[in-house]
Amino acid sequence: MDYDFAAWTGMALRWLHVVAGVAWIGASFYFVWLDNNLRDPNPPKDGVKGELWAVHGGGFYHSQKYMVAPAHMPDHLHWFKWEAYTTWLSGFALLTVLYYVGAPVYLIDPAKHAFTQAQAIATGLAFIFGGLLVYEALCRSPLGKNGKLFGVVWFATLTGATWALTQIFSDRGAFIHVGAIIGTCMVGNVFLIIIPNQRKIVADMLAGRLVDPRLGAMGKQRSVHNTHMTLPVIFIMISNHYPAVSGHPKAWLLLALISAGAISIRYFFIQRHFGRIRHEFLFYGAMLIFGATAIASIKPKDKVEITSQVPFTTAESIIQKHCVMCHSKTPTHTGFSAPPLGASFDNPEHIRTYAGKIRERAVTSTSMPLGNETAMTVEERAQLGAWINQGAKIP
Ligand code: HEC
Repeated sequence: MDYDFAAWTGMALRWLHVVAGVAWIGASFYFVWLDNNLRDPNPPKDGVKGELWAVHGGGFYHSQKYMVAPAHMPDHLHWFKWEAYTTWLSGFALLTVLYYVGAPVYLIDPAKHAFTQAQAIATGLAFIFGGLLVYEALCRSPLGKNGKLFGVVWFATLTGATWALTQIFSDRGAFIHVGAIIGTCMVGNVFLIIIPNQRKIVADMLAGRLVDPRLGAMGKQRSVHNTHMTLPVIFIMISNHYPAVSGHPKAWLLLALISAGAISIRYFFIQRHFGRIRHEFLFYGAMLIFGATAIASIKPKDKVEITSQVPFTTAESIIQKHCVMCHSKTPTHTGFSAPPLGASFDNPEHIRTYAGKIRERAVTSTSMPLGNETAMTVEERAQLGAWINQGAKIP
């Protein structure tokens, strides 16, 4: 029996990454909601800044937030960190297996920049960890104290990085690196600031020292950053399903608009936690996202006009040459043991069924063949497009 280990690790890691991410985002959204919904304790209680009563799953809950810390260390204290760490570790492993080991297929696009595999990996890592350094420097600079201005500068920095990445990497390789930069900053906030500061607070308490309130305030700032960054990252992580966005000539601009829309929607909910109903932010968010996806859905004109009739045999031979090494029940391309997304073009019926999607991936965009390894030409794309436009007829 033969095993495809790359496929197996890919599937296992992706599932782990999604599950850990759901757990992390769930906990983090819950705590932002809890923190913003705290009311003055009634009756007032020493050291308690706020409390919240909630009913869920058949029982009542009573949460209290202690500022800066409770008078006595409780016996059981739950730390929220493994959700975040597992998300990053599984995500980084997946990035390595898919985009670094598979760099020639997934990351490098010779039409944009002819990296060697090592150069591509080094560039990708430089963007991810360079991004973290820039983020940390901005947080610690005077800008860090002004939440709104910080948000604008960091957003502009990330948009610049998106532009640069889309110039040098494959469409999806570029997007995944933007997601990796943001995700790394978010986990960095947990690993480098929130958890170490909480450790210091606990150690000070146990030693009977006065706890520095700045430690908790710093953690709070980073947690607010994280909650604003969450929705754009989720969009990027599923953007493989939006090739019209990631493959668009202005992909960096569309991503910026969609992210701004997502942040606006998140902002609406955060304000609502405080009892402030600001519907305009929901409206701006929806407009930005609808607008950007509408732009992405405009069907581009074919670059080369073909007026003569294109027979199926021509379309089929183009697909044979550029697609079936992957898109087959028995792929011959290394690293593929099954047709990607189940899309196999082994027989005329299958090719016809997929005609619309083939147009989207290989005619109006250059999303396929991956990395254009086989150097599919503009003419071949136009011929394939013409066959589809003429009704995708098969014998
Ligand atoms: C190196 C392997 C490889 C080659 C060569 C390749 N593809 Fe793909 N294709 C993939 C992978 C992997 C996916 C799934 C990931 C994604 O959606 O980007 C995919 C997805 C697709 C999809 C989306 C299917 C769906 O159900 O949404 C279409 C359509 C497609 N390819 C068409 C083509 C065409 C047309 C060619 C040839 C011109 C081609 N591919 C060449 C690997 C390849």
